[in-house]
Amino acid sequence: MTYSKITGLGYYVPETIVTNDDLTQYMETSDTWIQERTGIRERRYFTYGKDTNASMATAASRMALERAGVDAKAVDLIVYATITPDYFFPGSGFLMQRELGVDGIGVIDIRDQCSGFVYALSIADQFIRTGMYKTILVVGSEIQSTWIDKSTKGRGVAVIFGDGAGAAVVQATDNPEHRILSTHLHADGRYAEDLYVKEPGSSRPDRSATKEMIDEGGFDVVMNGNAVFKHAVVRFTEVIQESLTANGLTKEDISLLVPHQANIRISEYVRQQLNLPEEKIVNNIQRYGNTTAASIPIALSEAWEHGRVKPGDLICLAAFGSGFTWASALIKW
Ligand code: COA
Repeated sequence: MTYSKITGLGYYVPETIVTNDDLTQYMETSDTWIQERTGIRERRYFTYGKDTNASMATAASRMALERAGVDAKAVDLIVYATITPDYFFPGSGFLMQRELGVDGIGVIDIRDQCSGFVYALSIADQFIRTGMYKTILVVGSEIQSTWIDKSTKGRGVAVIFGDGAGAAVVQATDNPEHRILSTHLHADGRYAEDLYVKEPGSSRPDRSATKEMIDEGGFDVVMNGNAVFKHAVVRFTEVIQESLTANGLTKEDISLLVPHQANIRISEYVRQQLNLPEEKIVNNIQRYGNTTAASIPIALSEAWEHGRVKPGDLICLAAFGSGFTWASALIKW
């Protein structure tokens, strides 16, 4: 039998740190409000002229490849998740492929928002299990600081999001003891408009963006924070339990839960529902905010660096986001 395993992890966060106090220059908010409601203390914003979505992903991928001891030329496929590509099309996966110098291999560009990385990992897992590919680069990268509205009008959304990238090298193995056990993907499009950006959509009468579209908020993130919160806490718990049941395991077997970093209160609620001690969950939202598709690979990379991911551990990744989408992956490290 062929299975897949993660053999290398990497991440890149831009150098500019934006604290909650920094945000008070643009909007009416406070460090206290943001920390109490979200747990976030600071986030990173990209540097124009230095970072791009693809360049950040390239840096993360190079780190992951080096840690895996794998040459970029050995990569068979790139699966790249982002909702903030450098161009409307083609996706940033193609730009990263060019930067890595691995032209010719396939690139699958996906979105799937905050669940993007787990969806991408699932795609990689399937391609490896079928024997089609042996080494796949799975990436999540976002530059969100340019599309959030940093005025008081947009503060409910703006304070949450940050920029960054994370990557994993996924490779074939025949060892059933150390592998991705299963992945579980879900979505419910009935809630699409509870967290979305309408433009630049194609279902409109004119070719180009108009001032009206901008003034009407078409390019702004629309978020029904309350609905997101309520669905997230239910779906996170559900999809984690689903992964455990599918493998005949229980929540007591989890060594480390790496949830998408949406809000510290969501993660804390889920942790309590599962009765996990604090040391069994990864929270780095305090330093990076919500980096959407990049959040899980950054958190997993940091946990690995800190020695919290060890051979034999049962690692659970879980995500929830716009779509609505939700997903989990259970990994025997
Ligand atoms: N600073 C100060 N005040 C703010 C603010 C900010 N950044 N953002 C909103 N407020 C105000 C609101 O205007 C509102 O004021 P009002 O009562 O006078 O109308 C008040 O704070 C409460 O707003 P509300 O939206 O009800 O707060 P909340 O407790 O629901 O928290 C979120 C808002 C966004 C933090 C919360 O809903 C949340 O985290 N939802 C999930 C979002 C998420 O995870 N998104 C990513 C999904 S992957």
